[in-house]
Amino acid sequence: MNIAMIGTGYVGLVSGVCFAEFGFEVTCVDTKPAIIERLQRGEATIYEPGLEDLLERNITAGTLRFTTDLAEAVAAADVVFIAVGTPSRRGDDQADLQYIMAAADQVAEAMRPGTVVVIKSTVVVGTGTKVRDRIRAARPNVPFSMVSNPEFLREGSAIEDFMRPDRVVVGVEDEHGSEAMHRVYRPLYLRETPLIVTTRENAELIKYATNAFLAMKVTFINQVADLCEKTGGNVQDVAHAIGMDNRIGSKFLHAGPGFGGSCFPKDTRAFAATGRDHGVPQKLIESVVEINEKRKRSMAERLIGFAREAGGNTVAVLGISFKPNTDDIRESPALDIVSALRGEGIEVRIHDPAAMETGKAVLHDVTWCASPYEAVEGAHVVALLTEWNVYRALDLKRVAKEMSGKVLVDLRNIYQPQDLAGSGLEYHSVGRPTLLESSLTD
Ligand code: UDX
Repeated sequence: MNIAMIGTGYVGLVSGVCFAEFGFEVTCVDTKPAIIERLQRGEATIYEPGLEDLLERNITAGTLRFTTDLAEAVAAADVVFIAVGTPSRRGDDQADLQYIMAAADQVAEAMRPGTVVVIKSTVVVGTGTKVRDRIRAARPNVPFSMVSNPEFLREGSAIEDFMRPDRVVVGVEDEHGSEAMHRVYRPLYLRETPLIVTTRENAELIKYATNAFLAMKVTFINQVADLCEKTGGNVQDVAHAIGMDNRIGSKFLHAGPGFGGSCFPKDTRAFAATGRDHGVPQKLIESVVEINEKRKRSMAERLIGFAREAGGNTVAVLGISFKPNTDDIRESPALDIVSALRGEGIEVRIHDPAAMETGKAVLHDVTWCASPYEAVEGAHVVALLTEWNVYRALDLKRVAKEMSGKVLVDLRNIYQPQDLAGSGLEYHSVGRPTLLESSLTD
């Protein structure tokens, strides 16, 4: 089985490398020569634990190749995956399909009879049919199969998610496409991974509905956190107990500064836009989008308030990636929060274990620090924005000593209030009672 993977972004690269690891012949294609050259050398172009090992191993084994020559890769392939980006389109929030369509046109030109064309990118319902019709119009006499195969990879654990998914979803319209998908996912099937074979429309809807639901779950617990703060509740205790109800489940119930990343914000907007386009507004998800935007602003206001109260002008930000184990800052709450602080003339000192290089491109007039302790130097408020492991066991007495103020705002609830005992810090978190230093005993 020969596979062509078009697009070496997050999804394409991880999927391509993992298919090679299964033993298939994989050629990954990208339009950017600089990326292809780095990948050919075995250098990971994205930050993903475990990726470089798999890259090296499969390049050496000869099962994994990288090229800018799409036509050559497609002409040799039995299955062609399209995994190019579908960013938010300016103006109407809908996913921009221009890269999908450009890839489809080139695939149409180069494919041989019997090719299975699979859309892996996240696309709105109906896209598979549009792409099929476009390819059919370009090559009316060449039979091919059109498949939808959405991914559910999380950044930071993408390889594990690929190798051990909860389920694989494929949307097909003929036996040939279905058979091909059974073959490419057979190694997972042997591990008893459920393979859901459904229509293409269902597969496209499943992807968006999954992300919309998860984003809604996060937003729900964030709102419960607000209520806990006003009523003396503790959102972690509430989340723990509601999560034990099997119908709800315990995952994605961590309150925080709002969701971010390359998927949830974009996919919730596109899901809402699709509802509007079809005259069935998705009110729940419209609200999720709005609440999440407001939340990032209200978190910034909280920090500004603490800084003003402390009579100070410096905030240390620990963590800017949208979640730990990634250098990705796309739509990270930290971006809005830092911009709002800067807008108020507050000095911002930042540390992040992996995302400082990506951060430098978009955040200006801030001080970049080599360690968390350097970041907190002279700060009136420390804001913990990403739950990186390195922040879980900070020497809190040292933090207090380096600071000019004493307020620690933990927007990820990674500490328990008693951890702060004797530290000299005033501790604020999300959806839990605030504990002032004076109320903690050593
Ligand atoms: C997500 C989906 O999980 C994945 O299936 C899909 O393919 C791509 O989008 P990812 O964006 O990598 O993956 O991150 P995820 O771990 O889902 O977190 C998304 C955002 O929600 C992050 O900003 C995270 O901090 C936030 N989040 C998540 C919470 O605030 N609380 C939670 O309980 C869970």
